Amino acid sequence: PEMSDLNINKIAEIIRNGDKKFIFLVGAGISTSAGIPDFRSPKTGLYHNLQKLKLPYAEAVFDIDYFSNNPKPFYILSKELYPGQFLPTSFHLLVKLMEQRKLLKRIYTQNIDTLERLSGIHDDYIVEAHGSFNANHCIDCGSSFENESFKELIFKDIHPTCEKCDGLVKPDITFFGEALPAKFFDKWDADFTEIDEKGDFVLVTAGTSLSVYPFASLPGEVSKRTQRVLVNKEIVGDYKTSPRKTDIIILDDIDTFADELIRELNWSKDFEKLSLK
Ligand code: OAD
Repeated sequence: PEMSDLNINKIAEIIRNGDKKFIFLVGAGISTSAGIPDFRSPKTGLYHNLQKLKLPYAEAVFDIDYFSNNPKPFYILSKELYPGQFLPTSFHLLVKLMEQRKLLKRIYTQNIDTLERLSGIHDDYIVEAHGSFNANHCIDCGSSFENESFKELIFKDIHPTCEKCDGLVKPDITFFGEALPAKFFDKWDADFTEIDEKGDFVLVTAGTSLSVYPFASLPGEVSKRTQRVLVNKEIVGDYKTSPRKTDIIILDDIDTFADELIRELNWSKDFEKLSLK
C-alpha cells in the first residue's frame, strides 16, 4: 500500500477504538472542492486573483484600516463569498459523522463560509475563529445591521451604512487589526487544559497554510501526548518547523482523504443520508 493508505488505516484504527476525541483545526482548503477558492494557493488562490480590485497588497481586502477608507474591494469580494451559494464537502460531512458517533470535541475553523453549520454540526462544537457573515455591525458606533438588508445592498453594489451614524457596516469577520472573537480564546483555554490533563485527544489540522496568528500557533501548543495529524497538500507550520516523531502527515487532497476514510470505516450509508439532506 501507499504511504497515505497506511496513514488512513492508522486513523481508522484510532476511530474504531473509540477512546479518543477529535479536535479539528481547519482552513480554506477544506472548502475548495465546494467551489470556494482558498487564499494563498498559487494561481487559484483569492490573493492571486484580486488584481482587478487594485489593492496595494492582497491582504488589504481584510484590513480594518484599509476598509475604513476604501470598503469597495471587500464588498465586491463579499458578493463572491456570500454564504448560500455553496454546499458542504465530504470533509465537512466526515466531521458531522464523527459528531454523531460522539467522537468530536471541537472544530476550530478559520473559514467564513459557514459550511460547518450547514453540514449540521451543532453550534457548541464550532468555533468560528475568524468570525462569519452571521451578523454585521457599524465600524463606528457598533450598532447592529440586519443580514437580509446587508446582503441586498451589497448585491446591488450599494455600500451598507449605519442607520444611526452613517458609518460603514461590516460583517463580524475578523479583519487584520481586529481581535479574534472571545469564544475562540474561551474554548481554546478550556480545551487546552483538558488536552493537557487527559492527553487522549487527536488534533487534526486540515486545509490551512497556518500562516495567520494566533490560530497558527495552536498545533505547537498541545502536549506531546496528543496525537497530531496534518491533512494538507503541503506540509505547513509547526508540522514543518518542529515535527514530532508521532505526527501523522497526509499530503493529499482533503476530499480524497475524507472519502477514503469514510469507506474504510464503512460509514458510506450514513454519509449518503447526510449528503441527500
Ligand atoms: P490558505 O489559502 O492560506 O491555505 C490553504 C491551504 O490549504 C494551503 O496550504 C493549500 O495547499 C491547502 N489546500 C487547498 N486546497 C486543498 C485541497 N483540496 N486538499 C488539500 N489541501 C488543500 O488559507 P487559510 O490557511 O485558511 O483570514 O488562511 C488563513 C486566513 O488567511 C483566512 O482565515 C483569511 C486569510 O487572510 C480572514 O479572512 C480574516
